[in-house]
Amino acid sequence: MTGNELRQAYLDFFKTKGHAIITGSSLIPQNDPTVLFTTAGMHPLVPYLLGEPHPAGKRLCNCQKCIRTGDIDDVGDLSHLTFFEMLGNWSLGDYFKEEAIAWSFEFLTSHSYLGFSPESLFVTVFAGSEAAPRDEEAIMIWKKHGIPDNRIFPLPMSDNWWGPAGQTGPCGPDTEMFIDTGRAPCGPDCRPGCKCGKFFEIWNDVFMQYEKTQHGRYLPLKQHNVDTGMGVERTVAMMQGKSSVYETELFAPIIQAISEASGRRMPDNDEIARAFRIIADHSRSAVFILGDEQGIVPGNLGQGYVLRRLIRRAVRFARRLGMREGFFRPVAEAVIAAYSHIYPELEQNRGRILSELDKEEARFEETLTRGMAELDKVLQKMKESCQTVLPGKMAFRLYDTYGFPLEFTKEICREQGVGVDLEGFTSSFEAHRNISRQGVDKAFKGGLADHSEMTTRLHTATHILHRSLQIVLGDHVRQKGSNITAERLRFDFVHNAKMTPEEIRKVEEIVNDVIRKDLPVTVEQMTLEDAKARGATALFTTKYGEMVKVYSIGDFSKEVCGGPHVSRTGALGRFKIVKEEASSAGVRRIRAVLEDTSSIASG
Ligand code: ALA
Repeated sequence: MTGNELRQAYLDFFKTKGHAIITGSSLIPQNDPTVLFTTAGMHPLVPYLLGEPHPAGKRLCNCQKCIRTGDIDDVGDLSHLTFFEMLGNWSLGDYFKEEAIAWSFEFLTSHSYLGFSPESLFVTVFAGSEAAPRDEEAIMIWKKHGIPDNRIFPLPMSDNWWGPAGQTGPCGPDTEMFIDTGRAPCGPDCRPGCKCGKFFEIWNDVFMQYEKTQHGRYLPLKQHNVDTGMGVERTVAMMQGKSSVYETELFAPIIQAISEASGRRMPDNDEIARAFRIIADHSRSAVFILGDEQGIVPGNLGQGYVLRRLIRRAVRFARRLGMREGFFRPVAEAVIAAYSHIYPELEQNRGRILSELDKEEARFEETLTRGMAELDKVLQKMKESCQTVLPGKMAFRLYDTYGFPLEFTKEICREQGVGVDLEGFTSSFEAHRNISRQGVDKAFKGGLADHSEMTTRLHTATHILHRSLQIVLGDHVRQKGSNITAERLRFDFVHNAKMTPEEIRKVEEIVNDVIRKDLPVTVEQMTLEDAKARGATALFTTKYGEMVKVYSIGDFSKEVCGGPHVSRTGALGRFKIVKEEASSAGVRRIRAVLEDTSSIASG
């Protein structure tokens, strides 16, 4: 059975049980700030699970694209994925455990559907906790279907309780279904849930009968719901008798593209196989995130950061296989070709997907080369002096000065048998933040202490605006003050005439031009005297301490500043001045915003 056949069989089966087939949602949750991505089919259905009537009725089913990065470190094994497709069926206050388990059992074992032998089926159930009692009902129902005690495993809340990815909302005990692959157990404690690959978890039926409140209490829900999720890739692997999801036809063209680009064949199970799998998984996730309707592009926070991390991790493993710059293109093309018949948005957004992958790969190449060289030097020195733990300060320097991600430092160190002083990293990080605040708070009255994505962008935009005003109005323009919120920037500057509409338009044009050019934003540390000697604008008399940070935006601007800033101007979006007015005698005030962050960065 192929992936296409499985999706169809599942939806057909639940249609015969009175379910309406609904369309899947975007990977980016629309009205839920508690999570970055849609992690399960139930996610977009939360309001209905809480009691709101769904227009399609009380029995629903669909296929939902999902991203989960919690297990990213496990990706590379036989079954973990950051992107996967989930088949789900729901009861919104309609049927409950009896029917849910009966239908799961029927779909899994009936020869008209998946036809797994009942003997290969193992299940786990909720063992009970303070929140709720052991799920005797589920145990009884499984037994009724012929699953004996020794294939039913009651497990604690950490295994058999499903709540929303956020903190609050509908939740309840679940029962998970595993297929025994027939491999030898890894030891006497090997059981469903063990990661050795003997048992493949393919489906989960959640019985949503509670709502978790903000205060951590579990209140009974008005209605009893069922929420199920079957992993397409894992189920297909089991149907095809494969030992890993990567051996299925869903991954075949992607693995093939990696093979061609690297000139290697994927071996069975070693570090090279792991690299193949990581590249395949992360590329697929990146293509789906970039191809999503929401237009997410790589960035430093939120979904953009996850995307950046996936792309960069794929690049790192690609380099290990000897794959050169531009490898993403054939791999991404393979993903688009394999999935566009179900997810047409991939084909529609092909241009953006390919160009963003290329751009991010090139940016990372720069960072990697500089950071790796530095880390290599440090590791060499540590070896010579028999040190086995990388000091936190050093890890922070790599992160702060070279933009080298901490998880990469950790991973490379782990490979070399070296630990990383994470506490030291955190205290350096905090200390840095405090220095930035001390220097900046006095002058900025807040704003910079908030490192959220938007304020960071607006902060970089402020530097570009400053320089652009000098270009249009003259070198007498000097910053007098600035205030940034997540919505807008406010900038006060020395100039003694109202700006004409033509001047405002010109300034906007220059700023947007700098954004369009996607200039790198770099930082160097030096003494204040050096900074001034190099022509950096130093705005305040506030003492920054002996060393200062100088942020350069390409060749366009250079300012002494505590940061933070975006790493490339392309991340800013479209700049627009919304107001220009007098602030005090000889001082003008501009309010400006950044709009539509995707269009320019991807254009
Ligand atoms: N929401 C449940 C899960 O994702 C079905 O496992």
